[in-house]
Amino acid sequence: MANTRRKKMIPVLVTAGPTREKIDPVRFISNYSTGTFGYAIAREAFRRGHDVTLVSGPTHIASPRGVRLLKIETALEMRREVLKRAKPGTLVIMAAAVCDWAPMKMAAGKIKRKSSGLSIKLKENPDILKELGQSRKNILVGFALETEDLEKNALEKLKKKQLDMVVANKLTKKNVLFGSGATDVVIIDRFGRKTVYRGRTKQELAKIILDKASNFNI
Ligand code: CTP
Repeated sequence: MANTRRKKMIPVLVTAGPTREKIDPVRFISNYSTGTFGYAIAREAFRRGHDVTLVSGPTHIASPRGVRLLKIETALEMRREVLKRAKPGTLVIMAAAVCDWAPMKMAAGKIKRKSSGLSIKLKENPDILKELGQSRKNILVGFALETEDLEKNALEKLKKKQLDMVVANKLTKKNVLFGSGATDVVIIDRFGRKTVYRGRTKQELAKIILDKASNFNI
């Protein structure tokens, strides 16, 4: 019975956590993402009966029950899994904090300390969400993490990446963005509707995001 219900519902693909971009065999560039938000969304989507795939960077969170979990490390690996699995009609929620840059090339051996310091040349990673937006085959929810001009920047991302919805949060001392804890977010959709949520847990926001996303179709 549950299976029949699951099949009729739209598949959901969630990304979560940080990516790691390798400098040498023992070092990498990354960010503070813990994956909490993406995992909460994946768990809630499964609870609602969706077929859920979670593409996750390194986190300490246990695999959510019933969710197809694909672990990746780099932005390029995340891109490959996402593009392969975002079949037409899939709801894609990109909660991952994808590194925008990666070292131009990874050193084969551990880089030795030198008194002259070290410069690492970085290259830009592909924008996975923008690529999905261009294909116009999915319902797309993106995140926007900003330190200033929250709504203006979030709206720009919504348009540039052709999203249905953007979940924007501002990095301030008070707003707990990394890990568990209550967060303030603004959700803007492609019709320009804007809602502000204050002091909500990521579990509460996961429900809100999935409710709102269910109003869109492809
Ligand atoms: N994203 C992505 N691929 C990237 C970078 C980001 O798919 N290479 C996605 C994120 O998962 C998120 C959204 O794009 O859903 C916005 O990410 P964010 O880091 O806030 O924005 P950027 O587009 O990287 O812009 P900037 O860092 O300049 O603010």
